[in-house]
Amino acid sequence: MRYPYLIIIIGAVLNLPMVSIAADYYDRSQEAIHQRTQPLGKVQLLQPETPTPSTAPTVDTVQPADVVLSGEQVYQQYCALCHINGVAGAPMLTDQTEWQTRLAQGKSVLLQHVVNGYRAMPAKGTCTKCSEQALQAAIDYMLEQAGL
Ligand code: HEC
Repeated sequence: MRYPYLIIIIGAVLNLPMVSIAADYYDRSQEAIHQRTQPLGKVQLLQPETPTPSTAPTVDTVQPADVVLSGEQVYQQYCALCHINGVAGAPMLTDQTEWQTRLAQGKSVLLQHVVNGYRAMPAKGTCTKCSEQALQAAIDYMLEQAGL
């Protein structure tokens, strides 16, 4: 038998790395444990987390919706209901002659009539939240649409 020695030698050579790995695994020194339990990765923030003043509008700075409505939007949402078809005798949007007669009273009278209500037209033309400026913008839009 010439081979058993050879086999033992080969076996020892092959086993050496295993033994050293096993030895590493069972190494319970603080350093070895620390190395084995290293996190796989670290998250690093590029910018320091300093709170920046927010530019988003807060509840206090948000304006009521009607303030930002354009004359056209007020007309579409509140006035068109009657003025698009002349409901209850409302002057129709595109009826220039009708609007000319109304405008002859003066713009401020038109505004007062809209604000306070006028005959079959309810106060503020139903846009109770509208400011006078918003109502004026709606009137201007309507006059413009009538070609005035
Ligand atoms: C419920 C129907 C109704 C709504 C809604 C309405 N109107 Fe009128 N509006 C009328 C009627 C009816 C008249 C005509 C009254 C009359 O002369 O007998 C009128 C007249 C007017 C006049 C002419 C007033 C004058 O002195 O001759 C203006 C300007 C006007 N409306 C603007 C508006 C605006 C702006 C809105 C929306 C914010 C609006 N209306 C919403 C029914 C309405």
